[in-house]
Amino acid sequence: MSDPRPRPRVFVTRALPGAGLERLGREAEIALWPERRAPPREALLARAATADGLLCLLTDRIDAELLARAPRLRAISSCSVGLDHVDLAAATMRRIPVGHTPGVLTDTTAELAIALLLAAARRVVEADRYVRAGQWREWSPDLLLGRDLAGSTLGVIGLGAIGRAVALRARALGMRVLGWNRTPRPTPEVESVPLPELLERSDFVSVHVALAEDTRGLLDAAALARMRPGAVLVNVARGGIVDEAALAAALASGRLAAAALDVFESEPLPAASPLLAAPNLVLTPHIGSASVRTRTRMADLAVDNLLAALRGEPMPHCANPEVYGGDGPRS
Ligand code: DGY
Repeated sequence: MSDPRPRPRVFVTRALPGAGLERLGREAEIALWPERRAPPREALLARAATADGLLCLLTDRIDAELLARAPRLRAISSCSVGLDHVDLAAATMRRIPVGHTPGVLTDTTAELAIALLLAAARRVVEADRYVRAGQWREWSPDLLLGRDLAGSTLGVIGLGAIGRAVALRARALGMRVLGWNRTPRPTPEVESVPLPELLERSDFVSVHVALAEDTRGLLDAAALARMRPGAVLVNVARGGIVDEAALAAALASGRLAAAALDVFESEPLPAASPLLAAPNLVLTPHIGSASVRTRTRMADLAVDNLLAALRGEPMPHCANPEVYGGDGPRS
């Protein structure tokens, strides 16, 4: 006997690794954006307008305008832990649950933070360029000298899961760890201090707060000026947290020894960005969670969230669980 219920329509904004989309396809009618690049705004709006569910990425802006033009929409699932691309308040007003993928990318992102700390401290990228450019004539006692992590102090800004995972790894590398969180969060083997003190005492600073109203521009020119001369900054969280022009100036003046960034105010990094001309700066293209295993797990979780909501069940990882109170989510 055929199932009389119409299958929900789902717009998936990009192909995802793993078998998650196959699972989704058994219960939903999938419209999959066919290109490698994100759907342009108008295409996103047009596809969302007829969808019951949306499986999106951090490159898709899910704002009040999109929601207003998507009358059927009853589930949004982002294949990301960060949700600064989704207007959560507007979705909550519409009682649409919004899913995300916490947990599965913690270790992978923490590993990239450590990789960038080491790369910046030990000038790994610069050394690679040096060899390839044929500049390596002989071993010399002062060639490409860097900084030791062991015995240095790391300041972790944001003690959520990723910040704590970075702290754990830093301790294993012999670092002292200071930490600051928006709401105090005692963490074993991390000395909690106010943010200005963290900036003043740390040899290395690693950023792990979410991008929100109160963290946008958190590391502005004044905050960067508080950092120790010769300190190193790493950011694998979100670009909007660091003032990029001020960072470029601090590197150019030599005030900061080095930095490494995986995230940017505007992505991909515009050709006119002052960061591209800044010295002692390692740049990676937002690959914090980019391992085969983690991206597959993220896709699976994003599908789990979407399927649950389409079945009328709570999402396993819902960022606005308040939609399940009162009258419940849209059905
Ligand atoms: C996220 O999930 O928010 C990361 O920035 C990309 O994986």
